[in-house]
Amino acid sequence: MADLKLKSTSIELDEITGTEGEKAVDIGALRNNTGYVTLDYGLKNTAVTKSEITFLDGEEGVLRYRGYPIEQLAERASFLEVAYLLIYGELPSTTQYEEFEHSVTNHTLIHEDMKKFFEGYPQRAHPMGVLASMIGALSSFYPDVLNPVQDQIDIDLTIHRLLAKSATIAAWSFKNSIGHPVMYPQNRLDYSGNLLHMMFAMPTEEYELNDKIVSALNKLLILHADHEQNCSTSTVRVVGSSQANLYAAASAGVMALWGPLHGGANQAVIEMLQQIYDDGGASKQNIDKWIAKFKDKESGKRLMGFGHRVYKNFDPRATIIKKSADEVLGDLNLNDPLLDIAKQLEEAALSDEYFIEKKLYPNVDYYSGLLYRAMGIPTEMFTVMFALGRMPGWIANWKEMTEEGQPITRPRQIYTGKNRREFIEMEDRS
Ligand code: CMC
Repeated sequence: MADLKLKSTSIELDEITGTEGEKAVDIGALRNNTGYVTLDYGLKNTAVTKSEITFLDGEEGVLRYRGYPIEQLAERASFLEVAYLLIYGELPSTTQYEEFEHSVTNHTLIHEDMKKFFEGYPQRAHPMGVLASMIGALSSFYPDVLNPVQDQIDIDLTIHRLLAKSATIAAWSFKNSIGHPVMYPQNRLDYSGNLLHMMFAMPTEEYELNDKIVSALNKLLILHADHEQNCSTSTVRVVGSSQANLYAAASAGVMALWGPLHGGANQAVIEMLQQIYDDGGASKQNIDKWIAKFKDKESGKRLMGFGHRVYKNFDPRATIIKKSADEVLGDLNLNDPLLDIAKQLEEAALSDEYFIEKKLYPNVDYYSGLLYRAMGIPTEMFTVMFALGRMPGWIANWKEMTEEGQPITRPRQIYTGKNRREFIEMEDRS
């Protein structure tokens, strides 16, 4: 029990301890017993759920999916293996994996009528908007198995369809944006290889996959696969709490991820690096000028790809991605001037008092864009790749919440508007 003393009253609240020793007080009884609610902008200090999926220690830079360290998963697992782990709770046996991979692979085709939707989008449509609306549209094309609670059904088919078809939608939105014919999925390829095939192959010639790029993409998808109660996952849970179907919740997740403070940061990082490049490049004088801009709130600019709500020491995903970016660029013999700028900028920021004091470090998005660029993926597709990676995490959270039967999310507010007043006829208003 924890004692909470307020000016006018006090209350004993239940204490809750997680399996890694995280402590919380359960304030569920607070309003009924004291009349108070809590106010916590951005939910910076509020646990919105208990969850068995992902553990994150922001002070120590620890990230584990279902107990397994992210470093081991990124090095040794495939993306679909990690997706299975997140969604079903355990690493799959050989048979479980084969069945799961077979099912996901065999659901990659989308209804031919949905293909026509792509023709309706303007060519310049941002692929995140297309991805979100097409995932929402899946609920109209596959309405038979939507809500496990209402329909008392086995949800696996919907989960496999969502994982499989979102990759096809993502790749086809890219093809549409460059005016190329769409490429159908190839069942002989694994998830990452198939995604690259659908994005880069042409019907006119053979497409050869580069193993190093396939492996780097697999790693990137794993690193993005879950991150406990981030903005988009919370959105998925909020939408799902009304018992809206999985496609609706995932579509909302894509929209939440799009913003530059969340998944959209990977696109924003490259745009920022390009601006710095155009402005004079990696010279010390130029880097110092930009660092000063990022510290000046009046400039309206932030060092994109730096800072995190929970990591206050380092983001373990960024460490792995930085190494991978170096390797892929080296292997492909690429020399990206933006990588030099990113490194200079990182060094300058990490030794600057402002960034040290505020505990601002490179996050997952700082180097991921450079890796996507090296793979030939255009900037507007970066956040789409993040969304595909995060899909298993959204699904796992939606499934956990639905199976637990969590109540609908309906927060309180503190009203700060006008007190009661009487209606005034229009002619009497001054
Ligand atoms: N550049 C300059 N100043 C910063 C930055 C930055 N990147 N990030 C935070 N600050 C400052 C901020 O101005 C504030 O200063 P003060 O206390 O003087 O008002 C202080 O640091 C705390 O920032 P905050 O915005 O209150 O912190 P938050 O926890 O609400 O925001 C964040 C976290 C990630 C939104 C923020 O660090 C940010 O905007 N970073 C840049 C965008 C970015 O890279 N986002 C990707 C996040 S990782 C991928 C994902 O999981 O989505």
